[in-house]
Amino acid sequence: IIRGTDLREALLDEVAVDVLRMKEQYGRPPGLVTILVGENPASLSYVSLKIKTAHRVGFKEVQENLPENISENELLECIKKYNNDETIDGILVQLPLPGHINEGKVIETIDPVKDVDAFHPVNVGRLMQEGAAAPFLPCTPAGIMEMLIRSEVPVAGAEVVVVGRSNIVGKPIANLLLQKGAAANATVTVVHTGTRNIAEHCLRADILIVAAGVPNLVRPEWIKAGACVIDVGVNRVGESVSAVTGKKIALLRGDVDYDAALEVAGWITPVPGGVGPMTIAMLMKNTVKAMKLRRT
Ligand code: GUN
Repeated sequence: IIRGTDLREALLDEVAVDVLRMKEQYGRPPGLVTILVGENPASLSYVSLKIKTAHRVGFKEVQENLPENISENELLECIKKYNNDETIDGILVQLPLPGHINEGKVIETIDPVKDVDAFHPVNVGRLMQEGAAAPFLPCTPAGIMEMLIRSEVPVAGAEVVVVGRSNIVGKPIANLLLQKGAAANATVTVVHTGTRNIAEHCLRADILIVAAGVPNLVRPEWIKAGACVIDVGVNRVGESVSAVTGKKIALLRGDVDYDAALEVAGWITPVPGGVGPMTIAMLMKNTVKAMKLRRT
């Protein structure tokens, strides 16, 4: 079982040491601004975790919680303000945005050197051309790469099947894994809603990466014995009340039928506690990197 929660602690320790070094060298910590538009409950919970983690590692953190009905122009002005703020190294606009706002335009307004999500077309292009050597890697794919490396899953020469073709996970992880070089060099297949026989492809995979957003989509019959299964799905399947705090907690399920898959897979990531914590840790890594890049 590849526990993202354990790997996260090691990564955040590394970041905390970097923060101390940056403070000594430059007189200030890395700065991260999170911009949230509206009150989507999933987005609220993601952003609050990002803020908490930024605080924990010693960043300067700024929160912009903007109303659902904010105009596109006001949002763009807010981004530009942080593009010009010397104490801010990373700008994160939580997606999705309300329908009246053009997401592409928003992402392109973020200065690429502060684009810690790596969603700007410049950073997407760098990833296509340079793979893991690009200045910023999107946080979830970067977290998956860390999990594979730190768990010593053989990647070079492996058959990888990616389920899902999103810009945030499917496309970038496929690109990272097919790059030449020791840490990648895999043979990658991407399957999606237009694929004829998804199960047949999955069964060939040495490494199966599932980012479809469909709870329990992947059955044990789809998994080759001993394969590495990375479950990126975060599906809210219900709600419960904490016996300790009395607060509502979301019941989360991945895209993989975890209990059954555990019997077949050689490696597997749980949900929650798998890829999610890695995504947030990589955001912190990217913010440190952003400060270093602007300083050198
Ligand atoms: N929405 C879902 N995943 C992400 C992410 O990694 N970054 C941002 N900004 N929004 C998201």
